Amino acid sequence: MLNSYVHLVNSLSEFNFKTFLSQYSKVIVFADENTNRYCYPLLKEHLPEHLLTIIQSGEEQKTLQTCSVLWNSMTEAGLDRKSFVINLGGGVLGDMGGFCAATYKRGVDFMQIPTTLLSQVDASVGGKLGVDFQDFKNHIGVFQDPQKVIIFSDFLKTLDRDELRSGFAEIIKHALIKDNKQFEALKNITLMQLQNLDFEFNKIISHSISIKSNVVLNDPTEKGERKILNFGHTLGHAIESFYLPKPNQKLLHGEAIAIGMICESYLSYIKSYITKNELNEICDYILKIYGKVKIPDSDLDSILELTTHDKKNSHGNVKFSLIKSIGNCVFDIIISNNEMMDAIKFYVSK
Ligand SMILES: NC(=O)c1ccc[n+]([C@@H]2O[C@H](COP(=O)([O-])OP(=O)(O)OC[C@H]3O[C@@H](n4cnc5c(N)ncnc54)[C@H](O)[C@@H]3O)[C@@H](O)[C@H]2O)c1
Ligand SMILES: [Zn+2]
Repeated sequence: MLNSYVHLVNSLSEFNFKTFLSQYSKVIVFADENTNRYCYPLLKEHLPEHLLTIIQSGEEQKTLQTCSVLWNSMTEAGLDRKSFVINLGGGVLGDMGGFCAATYKRGVDFMQIPTTLLSQVDASVGGKLGVDFQDFKNHIGVFQDPQKVIIFSDFLKTLDRDELRSGFAEIIKHALIKDNKQFEALKNITLMQLQNLDFEFNKIISHSISIKSNVVLNDPTEKGERKILNFGHTLGHAIESFYLPKPNQKLLHGEAIAIGMICESYLSYIKSYITKNELNEICDYILKIYGKVKIPDSDLDSILELTTHDKKNSHGNVKFSLIKSIGNCVFDIIISNNEMMDAIKFYVSK
């Protein structure tokens, strides 16, 4: 089931922006230089009179300083509490623009128009908004649902192919934690088909969003079940963080999560939650799409060290969400350092 505020459209004219927005006093669109160039021209004609503020793209821009720029343009334009914000962009712009809307004059309504695959199937659903602070990712933020999320997969045509493949990792994750049949279906998609958007993409996006929607509906503030969305992310984040400062080895989020899913499937296997066959099936498919990243033995200790910084830990234990047969997931599973090391070594040996 899709959340009622999520609209998956085949054409932007399917959603009547002008009628919907007529209840608001002013409309402002936030975009970055890429979505301004590639996506805004498609959207513009569907909107009533509006303002446009463009910020620079990139995770390093996801800061309170950039929020000041956005709050400033809202203030200078004289936006009141009946104004409306449209966030046209990937997860960085959506998280930050949503946060600015949710806090401006104690909150104005906003809409997410996600333009990357990652933001369409993951970031735009679930109400988490915010920015990075000092060295901490998503450190300052709020939970607030948008009025509408408009998903238009044609935007993905201009997206960098590595970014597209990166977002696909979350689609694989959603299938592994909640839908065995969907994983079977995904396994038929080749890298070539993925990069040419050469299959029924809308169906896959909509299915993936519905998995995330259902999980967050049951547990909006991550007290329990929502933790299953972290499958692949405990070791995946550590690997992502470790290679982040190394320009030639930097991994996109989904590329790191793909490695994390292999490692954490191995942990699921050693806990006897999945069979050897299931483990092989998962590894074979992920390696087919993402290839193998070389992780030298000399990096392993430092990567492991980074898992202790994970936000989800408590009392010095590293807790994992692991799959219990493909299509099911359990959470809060304590894993020892030795087991984590074996899991990364398992990937290295592939
Ligand atoms: N709120 C949540 O629940 C949640 C979940 C997952 C991730 N996130 C956040 O999402 C962010 C990552 O999002 P992302 O992967 O979308 O990255 P992003 O927003 O940085 O976008 C990636 C790049 O693609 C460009 N781009 C966007 N749409 C385009 C298009 N249609 N054509 C051409 N270029 C385009 C952007 O300008 C940017 O350069 C992270 O900050 C992460 O914390 C949030
Ligand atoms: Zn992720």
